Amino acid sequence: MRKKLFIPGLLAVLTLGCLLIMPVMASRSQSAPQTIAPAIAPVIAQSPAPTSSPVPSATPSPVPTTSASLPNVVLLATGGTIAGTGATSTTTVGYQAAKLPVETLISAVPELKNIANITGEQVLQIASENMTVEGLLQIAKRVNEVLAQPEVSGVVITHGTDTLEETAYFLNLVTKSEKPVVVVGSMRPATALSADGPLNLYNAVAIAGSPEAVGKGVFVSLNDQISAAREVTKSNTTSLNTFQANDMGYLGYVELGKPYFYRMPIRKHTVATPFEVSALTTLPQVDIVYGYGSNRPAMFRAAIADGAKGIVYAGVGNGSISVQLEPDVIAASKKGIPIVRSSRAGAGRVVRNGEEKDDENGFIVADNLSPQKARLLLMLGLTITSDPQALQEMFYTY
Ligand code: SIN
Repeated sequence: MRKKLFIPGLLAVLTLGCLLIMPVMASRSQSAPQTIAPAIAPVIAQSPAPTSSPVPSATPSPVPTTSASLPNVVLLATGGTIAGTGATSTTTVGYQAAKLPVETLISAVPELKNIANITGEQVLQIASENMTVEGLLQIAKRVNEVLAQPEVSGVVITHGTDTLEETAYFLNLVTKSEKPVVVVGSMRPATALSADGPLNLYNAVAIAGSPEAVGKGVFVSLNDQISAAREVTKSNTTSLNTFQANDMGYLGYVELGKPYFYRMPIRKHTVATPFEVSALTTLPQVDIVYGYGSNRPAMFRAAIADGAKGIVYAGVGNGSISVQLEPDVIAASKKGIPIVRSSRAGAGRVVRNGEEKDDENGFIVADNLSPQKARLLLMLGLTITSDPQALQEMFYTY
């Protein structure tokens, strides 16, 4: 599934861009006529006519290989809207995510060659709502393999925005390197007017190649903003400004190919965690049960019956559990199934022994982790221990 492409120079980019984009164009032309956004258009416009041979016989000699003065950044593509195509340039919803290959993403931004030597690999090609535990592990293992190469400066992962924050936080917990890892997506498909993917990608590569980004954990960057993986969340269904770090704020901004940082993430990450995924093929099943008024225990019971090894309860307010649900939750905890109380409120801490008797019932609080991120930490924590106190310490540490 992996494809590699070193970008030696603009000429080679344009030639390869044509070869790789032609099948995409051919398949498009069989369906609806399509407008190609300006970011991709130059690659097509300047490319030679297609030939039946995969490699043109008179390929010009590639101009310079790589620049020793530039950082080496590896782009791991996983799909999403940043690789999406719509029927027209105004199709900003109802498009198809995860259509363009990594080579096209790179060749659509020739400016990348000014800031880094880029290598691209197609790790997955999915819409991010279809991300799985196996997919997370696959990305994490590849990130660790790539960053272990001394010549690599940093990694960029292109990803759908819907679960981008989850993959970013997972990588923040399991990456065994201080080198920068930037997870990037876009809110508009590559074919849209004012597509945000190309500049987001350029910014992400700039961060990944920057010495100032070393040792700060995994980043999420869209819309010229840089956020810490632990803190950021998608907050709006369609807005370009969707990624927000709520009370915590951004780590910085990226402008004109350079990141500007204003603070460090404090919670431990990457090389300072005990989580090791290299030998894992799956993770313990953890499900999220949502809290709401008139709560019924049906969903909680279903998760337990389905074999959940831990439950994250996305409670109301300060993680409160209704009297209708409480007996089931306490019974599961007493049977040794770790229960993490988080909040659906979107910001703030869930306070231990505040709304619930956590010590008495053996519950764990998520601190200020969102339910979806608490699930990832609990899954990883369960690879080490199921002791509630030890797990609680992890939620105060990572
Ligand atoms: C996805 O998450 O794959 C689709 C939505 C997006 O990338 O914005």
